[in-house]
Amino acid sequence: MFSKAFGKGVGFAAVVSVVGFGGLAFSALALAEETALETAVEAADPTAGQSIFRRCAACHTVENGGPTRVGPNLWGIVDRDIGAVEGFRYSRSMAASEETWSLENLDGFIQNPRAFVPGTTMGFAGLRNEEQRASLLAYLQSLSNEGSEAEE
Ligand code: HEC
Repeated sequence: MFSKAFGKGVGFAAVVSVVGFGGLAFSALALAEETALETAVEAADPTAGQSIFRRCAACHTVENGGPTRVGPNLWGIVDRDIGAVEGFRYSRSMAASEETWSLENLDGFIQNPRAFVPGTTMGFAGLRNEEQRASLLAYLQSLSNEGSEAEE
C-alpha cells in the first residue's frame, strides 16, 4: 500500500483534478474511495466516536501504555504496523501481515473483521454504519502522540 504521505499527496491531486480538469477525473477514480474516507473522518465527531468505542472497550484499552485485555492496546493505532504489540498473541493471519493500519485498512477491518482478516480472533461482528465508523476512526486518530497536529 501507499505510505500515508504518498496517499495523501495523490489524494489531493485527485481532488484537484476532479474539480479543475474533468479530463483527469479518470486517474482519480482509483483513489476516490480513500479520499472520501479521509474527508469523512476529518468531518466526523471524535466525541461520538468515543461513545461508540464502548463496544470495543471490553477488549481494548486506548491509553498510552495501557494494558492488553482480550485484544491489544490501541494507542496510536492509526498508521501503526499491523500486529505490532510486543507479547500479544495475534492470530496467524494478523501476525503475518506486513501492512499498516491506514484509515482505509481500519475502516475495512472494523466494518467486517472476519471478512477483512480471515482467521482473525477478534470476536466482533462488525460495525456496518459508515458514519459511526468515521467517528470511531476520528476518535482513534486523536489517540496518539501526533494527536490532531499537522501530520508529516
Ligand atoms: C471480544 C473482544 C474484542 C472486541 C469487542 C473488539 N476487539 Fe479488536 N481485537 C480483539 C482481538 C482478540 C484482536 C487480535 C486479533 C487477531 O490477532 O487476529 C483484536 C485486534 C484489533 C486490532 C488490530 C490491533 C493490532 O495491534 O494490529 C484493531 C485495530 C482492533 N482490534 C480494533 C477494534 C475496534 C475499533 C473495536 C470496536 C469497534 C474492537 N476492536 C472490538 C478483540 C476484540
